[in-house]
Amino acid sequence: MSLPMSKRRAFHSGGIAILDYGSQYTQLIARRLREQRIYSEIFAPNAPESEVLASAPRGIILSGSPYSVYEAGAPQLPAYLRTLELPILGICYGMQLLAHSFGGAVSGAAQREYGAATVAIVPCPLFRDLPEQLVVWMSHADRIEKLPEGWQALGSTPNAPYAAMGDLSKRRYAVQFHPEVTHTPHGAAILRNFAVHVCGCTPDWTPKAIIEESVAALRAQIGAERVILGLSGGVDSAVAAALLQRAVGDQLTCIFINTGLLRQGEPEQVIQTFQRERHMRLVAVEATEEFLAALAGVTEPEQKRAIIGEKFIRTFEAEARKLGQVRFLAQGTIYPDVIESGGGPGSAARTIKKHHNVGGLPPDLAFELVEPLRYLFKDEVRQIGTELSLPDSLVWRQPFPGPGLAVRCLGEVTFERLARLRAADAIVLEELGRANLLRGETAQAFAVLLPVRSVGVMGDGRTYQETIAVRAVQTEDFMTAQWARLPYEVLARISERIVNEVQGVNRVVYDITTKPPATVEWE
Ligand code: XMP
Repeated sequence: MSLPMSKRRAFHSGGIAILDYGSQYTQLIARRLREQRIYSEIFAPNAPESEVLASAPRGIILSGSPYSVYEAGAPQLPAYLRTLELPILGICYGMQLLAHSFGGAVSGAAQREYGAATVAIVPCPLFRDLPEQLVVWMSHADRIEKLPEGWQALGSTPNAPYAAMGDLSKRRYAVQFHPEVTHTPHGAAILRNFAVHVCGCTPDWTPKAIIEESVAALRAQIGAERVILGLSGGVDSAVAAALLQRAVGDQLTCIFINTGLLRQGEPEQVIQTFQRERHMRLVAVEATEEFLAALAGVTEPEQKRAIIGEKFIRTFEAEARKLGQVRFLAQGTIYPDVIESGGGPGSAARTIKKHHNVGGLPPDLAFELVEPLRYLFKDEVRQIGTELSLPDSLVWRQPFPGPGLAVRCLGEVTFERLARLRAADAIVLEELGRANLLRGETAQAFAVLLPVRSVGVMGDGRTYQETIAVRAVQTEDFMTAQWARLPYEVLARISERIVNEVQGVNRVVYDITTKPPATVEWE
């Protein structure tokens, strides 16, 4: 989950290290802090002391966990935290762990406490400037029965006499509730109080600071060597390219492959933005014909993916070889991908997002990896993109699958059918954009071309043409998704325009299926 020490860099003014005991909310702790411009980083609870301290934390947060502290195999408090002179904040399991480790008593309460509760707080630095009756979100089974020596109660509910506690002289605090979730209205303020007023962090993790730090780190890593990067048209690779260009200029060469499977205007925009406006060294490869030839007659979704993945790697490889000696390959891996590949002891093993465009390169094309966005969340990547003057249309682009329109063109992928799909998709995006429904209101929205022909009537004539399905979803993490409740007027405009403007389509349907059981994409 973490870089080897030699590659680790610490944010200059320090931040908060979060030990992840496997709570589903751990990422939220990091996000809430970073949203308030405080750098934070997540570590496994058994990460070596040297690794955690190399990130120069000013304080430590212990997350929640599905475990109970008494359970066999329950992850424990690392020994170094007993004597470390940094402030600590335990959240839920983190609180029980502190109580348990410092000589208090935790019991498996007969009754789970779940949902909203009101905590009567005791004024202290953690609760600075907050109301004395705090509405919070509880989700726990165990509770503290006896405080450890030297600790005092800092909050109580009718159900839990110790809903918060602290050893103020040692700057150690703990809360039974979850300040990181939005159901705790003052939760972000509590995390900020801990970071700023207890730990002494400065809220200066700004896009400018992130860029400065990244540029320095990239220069140190890359030196005078060359780097290549596969530009996909998506926000992550675009921001990675812009950052690398700022850091190492012409040592960077980007390879952009037009697979013929991109959305309307995408290839032109990538070339315009990076080659013409930013004067980047960009190799633009026109490979539409090769990709479509390889896909001819193929209708099975997994086969489409396999063919595109393989073809992409081979094309990339051929272009990379033409560049001669290149030491580094840059990738737009972002922090959630990194966290997901590690995970705490309580989290089920999850699979990391596959970067199909780089895996599978032959061994004689061995590169060292550069991952400029490795510590950033998506919203930070977007802020940096804006700070680096990338156009909004790139920075706010919705996610797009690696295999591109091929998995939205059900049935055979032909030039003609792709043109039909692309035109319909552009209308969907244009109308949603016009209605301000593209930035957050829908996490992903697109058109799907179905190989289903139905009868229609146009003018005086009968038509027998294909169908477009419109898909628009709302989701936080793409693991589950709701179909977006788009206004009828917007759906009406989309449908009207598609049947009028797109040749070969006479029917439009709206996909009203959640994930699960459906997936976001149709293939
Ligand atoms: P599903 O269809 O699995 O999609 O519900 C979840 C998210 O993943 C994207 N997706 C992909 N991204 N390569 C990618 O890089 C792929 O093969 C791929 N398949 C789906 C999808 O667009 C959605 O955002």
